[in-house]
Amino acid sequence: MGGTVEFCAMCGIVGYVGPQRAQDVVIDGLRRLEYRGYDSAGVAVVHDDALWMAKRAGKLENLEKVLAEEPLPAAGVGIGHTRWATHGPPNDANAHPHAGEARRVAVVHNGIIENFAELRDRIEADDHAFLSDTDTEIAAHLIELQVQSGVDLTEAMRRVCQQLDGAFTLVAVDAHDPERVVAARRNSPLVVGLGEGENFLGSDVAAFIEHTREALELGQDQIVTLTRDAVQVTDFWGRAAEVTRFHVDWDLSAAEKDGHDWFMRKEIFEQPRAVADSLIGRRGADGLLQLDEMRLADEEIRELDKIIIIACGTSFYAGMVAKYAIEHWTRTPVEVELASEFRYRDPILDSTTLVVAISQSGETADTLQAIRHAREQRARVLAICNTNGSSIPRESDAVIYTHAGPEIGVASTKGFLTQLVACYLLALYVAQVKGTRYGDEIDEIVAQLEAIPSQIESVLEQAESIYGLARDHVGARSVLFLGRHAGYPVALEGALKLKELAYLHAEGFAAGELKHGPIALVEQGLPVLCVVPPRGRDQLHGKMISGIQEVRARGARTICLAEEGDAAIEPYADELIRLPKVPVLLQPLVAIIPLQLFACELATLLGHDVDQPRNLAKSVTVE
Ligand code: G6P
Repeated sequence: MGGTVEFCAMCGIVGYVGPQRAQDVVIDGLRRLEYRGYDSAGVAVVHDDALWMAKRAGKLENLEKVLAEEPLPAAGVGIGHTRWATHGPPNDANAHPHAGEARRVAVVHNGIIENFAELRDRIEADDHAFLSDTDTEIAAHLIELQVQSGVDLTEAMRRVCQQLDGAFTLVAVDAHDPERVVAARRNSPLVVGLGEGENFLGSDVAAFIEHTREALELGQDQIVTLTRDAVQVTDFWGRAAEVTRFHVDWDLSAAEKDGHDWFMRKEIFEQPRAVADSLIGRRGADGLLQLDEMRLADEEIRELDKIIIIACGTSFYAGMVAKYAIEHWTRTPVEVELASEFRYRDPILDSTTLVVAISQSGETADTLQAIRHAREQRARVLAICNTNGSSIPRESDAVIYTHAGPEIGVASTKGFLTQLVACYLLALYVAQVKGTRYGDEIDEIVAQLEAIPSQIESVLEQAESIYGLARDHVGARSVLFLGRHAGYPVALEGALKLKELAYLHAEGFAAGELKHGPIALVEQGLPVLCVVPPRGRDQLHGKMISGIQEVRARGARTICLAEEGDAAIEPYADELIRLPKVPVLLQPLVAIIPLQLFACELATLLGHDVDQPRNLAKSVTVE
């Protein structure tokens, strides 16, 4: 089977066994998980030695309409899925569950099975027909082959998981075993809900919280077997495994936010995973970078003599960071332009220009009009986008999807971080094709990117002290942000977050520009957040310190974000937030986190609606 493979990087999964009607429990659970994805939905139940399935592209309501007309038979075992597709068009065939060749085993899946092609080639030779473009279907076929050979569903799942590479949660049912649901977890979320005479599975507790608040957290590489009265957990090799039991004390609405007060705060804390997901599957078997939907020939990339990045809002600041990385690694000139300004200045474009449109939603009207203009001028257009099947990637020549999962908070957080990752990957890919960086240099930067998720975790661990800083500044009327080099767009984005959420006057400046005007704004007690570049061979660090000294001498209160071990900053920082050591070009990935937390907390303290700030919209579809 050719074409694009459908991966599901962030989906919602539900499993049930018990006396209630499985279809209803599963659909209710999916409704609570719909924030995880809404490209398609599906359910399977086991009745009378057979599988019964229904699935539909689009939102859950499409599936509900089908089930209202033709309900599945009453059954005590069921699984369901709501999908966030990351590649290609979401359609009925690609919706989960997927069944094996004999339609005996059905599977739902969240994650990416990296070696699916190799596994599929192995059994396609045995006359297996595949009905979808997903990596998931192979798991259904393999598990079914195992149960057909005589082992039970649990053992079948174990044997198959031992062969799979990648990140996955899999949940399976067997038509000949109407009392059991089996699931596996590797690097992808799954929790068990413990009921009385019934048990549940969910991507998070929201899936079952209306039925039970007692839950089990599964560990890495574990298999769980659910029957009405028992939950048995082992590792992939059948050894008994340790699990953590917990009580959920959130209410239903908080459960959808994973215990957080706002979707935005939840999304800030999801960033390590979002960055990791955005890096999965980017290297081919030969170790070279590959960008699945790049669709630009190497020859076209070699001929590029200019890149123009267009975007709005937060995405524009991601583009500003990208300029530093692309120019440094590829020696190709980059312009960054607000999408709303782009076509009115009659930009100079031709077929050797690559226009990169960055858009989380893929629907921003200013950006869409700008790419239409670029294509009319024969420029090649590449979209960096988080929303599958949206207008901007559809109208572009090529696309790199970010893998943030649905972003619900209006102010972008994980969307921004994954855009940065996509920009870095694009820069490295162009460097690889143009030969402007050696292979080992590219490998080193990719390895540094792969270390970022755990470095973001370490910044998130300081959340409480950042919230303390927000408390100290509740009365502020104005806040300034300073940065240099790649830290300058971070300062702009930090200021934007504060404007959007706290409705405060906030401005970001390039620190070197201070003395040319903005320093007149500084007065006693003015909070100034300073993004301090890592110490390096250049003079950036020292120059930044001079700027900080200048504002402090005039009464500003400096809150400095500086890398671990940077002692030179200490005398000039009224408050210090430590950042992990990362190269200067990657520092935005860690430096923006405290600024997001600061804005989120300050707005919360001021009593504002953080997820839906006044006058703003998530996706602006008018020019
Ligand atoms: C709106 C949102 C911003 C976002 C901007 C660009 O203004 O409120 O958070 O950064 O649009 O959106 P896009 O979807 O194109 O990235």
